[in-house]
Amino acid sequence: MQLNLTGRTALVTGSTQGIGLAIAAGLAGSGARVAINGRSPETVARAIAQLSEQVPDAQLIAAPADVATEQGAAELLRILPDVDILTNNLGIFGSRPALEITDAEWLRYFEVNVLAAVRLIRAYLPGMTGRGWGRVQNIASDSAVVIPTEMIHYGMSKTALLAVSRGYAKEAAGSGVTVNSVIAGPTHTGGVEDFVYQLVDRDLPWDEAQREFMRLHRPQSLLQRLIEPEEIANMVVYLSSDQASATTGAAVRVDGGYVDSILP
Ligand SMILES: NC(=O)c1ccc[n+]([C@@H]2O[C@H](COP(=O)([O-])OP(=O)(O)OC[C@H]3O[C@@H](n4cnc5c(N)ncnc54)[C@H](OP(=O)(O)O)[C@@H]3O)[C@@H](O)[C@H]2O)c1
Repeated sequence: MQLNLTGRTALVTGSTQGIGLAIAAGLAGSGARVAINGRSPETVARAIAQLSEQVPDAQLIAAPADVATEQGAAELLRILPDVDILTNNLGIFGSRPALEITDAEWLRYFEVNVLAAVRLIRAYLPGMTGRGWGRVQNIASDSAVVIPTEMIHYGMSKTALLAVSRGYAKEAAGSGVTVNSVIAGPTHTGGVEDFVYQLVDRDLPWDEAQREFMRLHRPQSLLQRLIEPEEIANMVVYLSSDQASATTGAAVRVDGGYVDSILP
């Protein structure tokens, strides 16, 4: 299957590092023009320099803005009034004892992980349906389904994203626009690498360290290793393509079999 996104414009929120950066590389590598987003012009410029080396001929747009605020979303829309592919990747996570999550934290997780995505869908969906083609993916997590007791607020925000995806897929029914969520499992990003070395012997080489971490702390994973960001990106590139035209309203798993369920 040849996935060709030439002529499409994509926005990936939170794409200066981690999974977002890998998604941006995947989309650009398949020919899309990709807007790179993070909170500061410096981190965005650094990511663009890195992607330009990694993907020769990449067409990249600098789109710095704090999309977790109404004002930031408005700034982003001025830079980029229309997109064909919207990947809501931005998400924050952190652990907190269940009974100590404050009202402010509940609201912050809702604002950053849910409302930021909803605002952009609201802004870009009418253009997509008007043109008769569009792709929206919301990056959710295994924590949407297997709610961690140390991150209930994070789990809540990702469960909400599944509902948002399903609901807006219905809104776009019959239009040629698809809306899906991607359930990402434990993934090898910088933050997660630090986290792994907090829990296993620091002297272990990375490959052994991650397998030990998975064996002890994520035994449900069928993959038995962390997922590489590119493996999440591959699914997003596919969902962004013409070939994925019959997949909409779905929660698609790239979780290494972590969620112990046959469906979805
Ligand atoms: N890592 C995992 O194991 C894992 C597992 C399942 C799901 N996920 C989900 O995958 C997504 C990406 O995770 P990740 O681990 O790759 O994240 P990450 O490494 O923490 O990167 C977060 C990105 O978001 C940007 N960002 C943060 N706040 C922002 C804001 N208000 N406005 C715009 N950009 C902002 C950061 O850029 P600047 O610092 O430049 O602003 C950075 O590029 C998240 O939705 C996460 O919940 C991750």
